[in-house]
Amino acid sequence: MKSKNKNIIYSNILDNEKSAFVINEQKFSSNIESMLSSFKAFYPNVIIGYSYKTNYVPLICKIAHDLGCFAEVVSEMEVDMAQNVLTNKSNIIYNGPVKSIESLRIVIKNGGIINIDNSFDLEMIDLILKEESNLNLKAKVALRLNFSFNENDSRFGMDEDNIIRIKEEIKCKDNIELIGFHLHLPFRSMESFDFRVKTMIKVLEKNKDVDLKYINIGGGFFGDISIETAKSLGINKPPSYNDYAKLIGDQLSDYFSKNNYNEWPTLFIEPGSSVVADVLDFITRIHTVKQIDNRDYIVTYAGRHLLSPTNKTVEMPVSISFFNEKIICDSETVNYVVAGYTCIEGDIIGRLNSTKIIDRENSYIIVSNVGSYSIVMGSDFILPQPAIYSFGNDGLRMLRQSKKTIDIINSFI
Ligand SMILES: Cc1ncc(COP(=O)(O)O)c(C=O)c1O
Repeated sequence: MKSKNKNIIYSNILDNEKSAFVINEQKFSSNIESMLSSFKAFYPNVIIGYSYKTNYVPLICKIAHDLGCFAEVVSEMEVDMAQNVLTNKSNIIYNGPVKSIESLRIVIKNGGIINIDNSFDLEMIDLILKEESNLNLKAKVALRLNFSFNENDSRFGMDEDNIIRIKEEIKCKDNIELIGFHLHLPFRSMESFDFRVKTMIKVLEKNKDVDLKYINIGGGFFGDISIETAKSLGINKPPSYNDYAKLIGDQLSDYFSKNNYNEWPTLFIEPGSSVVADVLDFITRIHTVKQIDNRDYIVTYAGRHLLSPTNKTVEMPVSISFFNEKIICDSETVNYVVAGYTCIEGDIIGRLNSTKIIDRENSYIIVSNVGSYSIVMGSDFILPQPAIYSFGNDGLRMLRQSKKTIDIINSFI
């Protein structure tokens, strides 16, 4: 989108708000489409399970589902959210270490997929199938694998001995169908995905008795990030969708063709950050501009706890914009520290250089790439949470009002 149009939209929002999250619907659709087409170029049948935990704004989930994505959910709350948004309620992958029995019941009744993390999951599934025996349900399950990458242990899934034990248990039950395996690790590098796919293939080799329909290689891919952000994360060039797709698709295709599989299983991927991070900007008016000794600060209505709660160090991409381009005055280049509104010393959002005079009336700050693990971790620390807006084919719309102090007071009994 042209920056002039963006400025009009952002100025309109900031006429009524001190700050807001803004969603670019078109960008999200094109990320999903581009990731899917990259993977389909290297493997014939691919389905995206969009990771709700990364950003569960209902409109975002709906766009993902309209483009054919399943819901990848990890809690009772997320199961309920997905049931609310999904048209085809079986298009759900239920992951996570703490599934509740009621949410498992919903997923089984709707024909969704359950990635078993531990034996208690299986106990609950058994109980549900007994309680609902009159419905003749069949539960579709996959097993989450636990492997250590570069000596980093994981607390999720099951080791190989437990995988074999649970597989044998499931074999004796005709109301549970084991469709395949799941492996997710918290690393985004190509090396870690190479490890995932090679490990998955080793597991498939050892478990040829499974009627394989599903391989789920998880999420945690890099999306499009700026060179500066990449550098601050210690990487030169982040892998593209295509790089990941080739790495994973080529090895799986090679394995299935050499092993004469008639029907190749569907490859599931579970992206979150890689498709939604660069879809949201945070825009904020400037509270004040101040100088301490020779240091220049722009104090905003942003906060690290709102934008990047899991990351306390990496500086975020910030830029300056002006409501009225005509009255911008030039100055010498000034290096500004963009600070949040909280009383935390480390609440520094980022830095920017400007040759324009920045003032509280005519200037505002844009923090980009704030779509992942921001809104879903939002808190009312010091100020109530800001509004959420979205723009797309239907124009600009407000998706959530900014919270008011009274909402917070009223949330206590
Ligand atoms: C099992 C699983 N799938 C998918 C994701 C999504 O990861 P990301 O948002 O980094 O793409 C996560 C994140 O923790 C996860 O644990």
